[in-house]
Amino acid sequence: MDRGILVVFEGIDGSGKSTQREMLAGWLAEQGARCAMLAQPSDSLAGRMLRRATHAHRRLSPETELALFLRDRREQARSVIRPLLAQGVVVLLDRHYLSSVAYQGALGLDPEEILRRCIRFSPLADVTFLFDIEPNAALARIRKHRSADPFERLDYLVIVRRMYLEWVARIPNAVVVNAAAEGRVIAAQIRETVGRLVTTRGLGSGQNGLRCAGEDPIPGCVRPSGRSSLHPV
Ligand code: TYD
Repeated sequence: MDRGILVVFEGIDGSGKSTQREMLAGWLAEQGARCAMLAQPSDSLAGRMLRRATHAHRRLSPETELALFLRDRREQARSVIRPLLAQGVVVLLDRHYLSSVAYQGALGLDPEEILRRCIRFSPLADVTFLFDIEPNAALARIRKHRSADPFERLDYLVIVRRMYLEWVARIPNAVVVNAAAEGRVIAAQIRETVGRLVTTRGLGSGQNGLRCAGEDPIPGCVRPSGRSSLHPV
């Protein structure tokens, strides 16, 4: 069995999951747990193709988009996530296959089929936090900082949210978080759940014997542009 812990953050854009993920990383470092911040899409070739299309405000066909998300996910699972889990690292993953079920399912692709394909090769998360929020409130948060990208349209996000809430029941170890609640309340809820896992696996206070301060990043776990990083302890 893997010694590490896979924690997944899911939710529509603007739900606040990235902020909470960073807060959790800081807290885990204080506990002496070694942790890696990863995201999907990742920095694989397929992931970069997806990001280029998003930044050019272009949407690919639903089928092409799904094929690229799946290729990216498979590659990241094999070359980055599984090796980290085997080394006792707490992996904080921004989006996993429930994103494909909700976002590509909302475009008319079969969510059952997406789930079935992803489960075949994806590592099972120890906990998945679904950040649930009204799409209007989420878009208002986004627009405070930047303009919305092609995934961030109200009518689309309304369906994506519905898909998330419908399909989360099929994800083992999933917790729905009220993302409209105060940040510190959400942070406490997340710490309690993840803290319990860290204690059970003996990964805190350097007990795992892995401290990464001064070490090189684990190969494949890169730091550029904030997409993925190894959090120092
Ligand atoms: P996002 O997490 O917002 O990345 P960034 O912060 O770099 O923009 O992901 C980009 C978009 O990709 C997001 O709107 C959701 C979408 N997405 C899917 O449609 N399907 C998927 O399987 C994944 C992982 C993401």
